[in-house]
Amino acid sequence: MPNLDLFFNPRAIAVVGASRTPGKIGYTILENLKMTYKGKIYPINLEATEIMGLNAYPSVLNIEEPVDLAVIAVPAEKVKYVVLECIKKKIKACCIISSGFSEIGQKEREIELQKISKGKIDIIGPNCLGVYSKNLDMLFLSRDRFKRPSEGNISFISQSGAVGSALIDMIGFEGIGISRFISYGNALDIGEIELIDYLGKDTGTRAIAMYIENIKDGLEFIKVASKVSKIKPLVALKAGKTKKGQEACMSHTGALAGPANVYSSAFKQAGVIEAKTSEELFDMAKSLAYQPIMADNKIAVITDGGGFGVLAADAAVEFGLELPALTPESLKPLRSAMPAHGITANPVDVTGDASDERFKRVLDIVFRDRNISGVIAIVLPQIPALTEGIVDILRDCKLYGKPYVVCMSGGAWTQEKARKLESFGVPVYPTPERAAKALAALYEYGKIVKGK
Ligand code: COA
Repeated sequence: MPNLDLFFNPRAIAVVGASRTPGKIGYTILENLKMTYKGKIYPINLEATEIMGLNAYPSVLNIEEPVDLAVIAVPAEKVKYVVLECIKKKIKACCIISSGFSEIGQKEREIELQKISKGKIDIIGPNCLGVYSKNLDMLFLSRDRFKRPSEGNISFISQSGAVGSALIDMIGFEGIGISRFISYGNALDIGEIELIDYLGKDTGTRAIAMYIENIKDGLEFIKVASKVSKIKPLVALKAGKTKKGQEACMSHTGALAGPANVYSSAFKQAGVIEAKTSEELFDMAKSLAYQPIMADNKIAVITDGGGFGVLAADAAVEFGLELPALTPESLKPLRSAMPAHGITANPVDVTGDASDERFKRVLDIVFRDRNISGVIAIVLPQIPALTEGIVDILRDCKLYGKPYVVCMSGGAWTQEKARKLESFGVPVYPTPERAAKALAALYEYGKIVKGK
């Protein structure tokens, strides 16, 4: 396996195609790197001697100091010459952002690059956005238009730059933290296998989310993913399941997307949890990154709105979970914690006049119940007797050591509470169905870890 650390922790970076013109890709890459990366940056531009206050050079060969990583954003026909110069300069890693390769039928450009780079320089791309982390942002999307997510424990690898960046933009709004994002495009050299292997060892990554169009080498994928999935969860969204989708993959990243059922069984064999939609991908990655695995499929639903409890119960059962009755030892204190109109069956309904104190007592009884291995807490914070304190009560449920997810449905006011709770590392979802799916992923991953 190549040493991918040079992509994530380089000591110096050259940006080939760094531009003097705002609005051009090579300008934004340099701007974003300058804002985030603390090491030395060398803009490479044929004409300029200085860009954004940094000394610019006509070629990497004019730099005297060593460089670990080159980011290449010049037109496709020039890329080969730039890579040859990088090899001569002994640069060991490069991200090729440029489009114009197999995705437009120019496969021979990639074959040529593979030949000249083999054993000399590792390549991410071409036709990609490269890598992103809080301290190394080479995305060519301006930080004004695309707010970066907070730092967290999910790493996301994506064959598509657009899908990847749009999802990151959206989850940044939701409050989910990202450790690393890698858009690897046509994967002429480094692809999902090398990235999974690297992220498997990366201490900042607790769950790996993947958008995949095709897999280069199925057997190697199964081997590497099987090893990593025992240590940390992998969730994959496979694109190109239909004939039309497969044709679109071909003209997007030049990928030959195989039949969906082949991929599903490869994922199963490798312990990779498959997401059906982009929403599911991050819903599951979020619970998997922030919650412990679930010992079995026995859960409780606690709600302050009866209808939401029913929806959660339906969804939970559909996803393979069970809602057993609470133990007789729980029922007596539960009854006394609630008014006569409260419901002590599972789903437990604390009803619309619940206070912080009532919720707290009920959560305590249910979390301690030996019949229960995981909890969906549905809290509609709009009800009159609840205060801001409910957020702290839900945060402190971590102390029980059992997995749980929270559902908070509502507009801006409710979402603000949800974001606050997520900032404490508690996964929150806007619908009971999404919360149930996310909790079910913790049961599924538990089976993977136990080899069941
Ligand atoms: N060495 C050094 N500098 C070079 C160079 C070379 N060999 N070739 C060009 N440059 C300079 C240019 O002078 C220019 O600087 P300037 O703007 O200050 O004059 C800059 O590098 C960019 O080169 P230019 O020829 O203007 O290219 P461009 O910016 O129009 O397009 C790409 C380059 C890479 C952005 C374009 O080819 C491309 O691939 N776009 C699509 C990218 C994409 O979507 N990727 C996939 C994302 S998922």
